[in-house]
Amino acid sequence: MSLDLHAPVMVAAGCGGTGRELAAYGALADLGGFVTRSITIAARPGGPGPRVLETPSGLVHAVDLQNPGLDQFLALELPWLVQQDARVFVSIVGRTLGEYAELARRLGRAPGIAGIEVNLSPPDASAAGVFDVREPFHAASVVAAVHRDLPRGTPVLAKLRSDVLRVAESARSVLDAGADAVVVGNALPAAMPDGRPAGLSGPATRPLALRCLVEVAAAAPGATVVACGGIGSAEDARAALDNGASAVQVGTALLHDPTTAHRLLAEMEEITA
Ligand SMILES: Cc1cc2nc3c(=O)[nH]c(=O)nc-3n(C[C@H](O)[C@H](O)[C@H](O)COP(=O)(O)O)c2cc1C
Repeated sequence: MSLDLHAPVMVAAGCGGTGRELAAYGALADLGGFVTRSITIAARPGGPGPRVLETPSGLVHAVDLQNPGLDQFLALELPWLVQQDARVFVSIVGRTLGEYAELARRLGRAPGIAGIEVNLSPPDASAAGVFDVREPFHAASVVAAVHRDLPRGTPVLAKLRSDVLRVAESARSVLDAGADAVVVGNALPAAMPDGRPAGLSGPATRPLALRCLVEVAAAAPGATVVACGGIGSAEDARAALDNGASAVQVGTALLHDPTTAHRLLAEMEEITA
């Protein structure tokens, strides 16, 4: 199954809010896809503040997977996104394999979803109490469960972390388990100054994510790979595409400038014109 993105720039999970915030700066339908923040079965209130810290090399964040839960998401957020003609990829995360399967089953019945992105790499997974997928075969079990419970033809993206030592093995495992594409990578495990588990995103992650992309492209020739991590300019995006990515996701850069994804798309079109 191909991803069939009509544009090579997507919004990364958790960085476009509910979509309403971003839509003020450009039509979501123009982008290759909008990935939602990771949705869990039950609502999560998120961690205590401060949740976000700017550093010279990127953003440190401890959002703790805050989201309204599946019911509220289906009732209030998804219909609006679908109305915008956005290609909506719902990011999901679960505490057990059973939760992943339930998320897949219920989202698979919701109209208008372009695909599911399985978050296999939250930087604070153990603190957040989600299923531990550090081992490639655990990641594969999650993807297999999601794949099994989705209607045939719904693309599954598996989001891996930029762990250079394991990423190629993880990519092969999730592709064998039925993933249609691999997203490389997520925020890196970091800590807030008070020691709380957090993620590091932004420019510092870009060279690491690029190295992981190169490893995955070599290990899984022909696979659809989406690059994510520190991408903020057309040059960054071009480097990813030249090294085997089919598309890029823009995250932290949107928090600095919400027009980034649209601007990048326009600049890339100019370069290739
Ligand atoms: C504030 C914030 C919230 C995020 N929430 C999620 C999330 O819910 N699910 C997920 O898979 N990734 C989440 N991410 C990670 C991003 O999607 C992206 O993978 C990561 O930040 C690296 O890309 P970037 O450097 O372009 O931001 C979040 C990142 C940030 C900065």
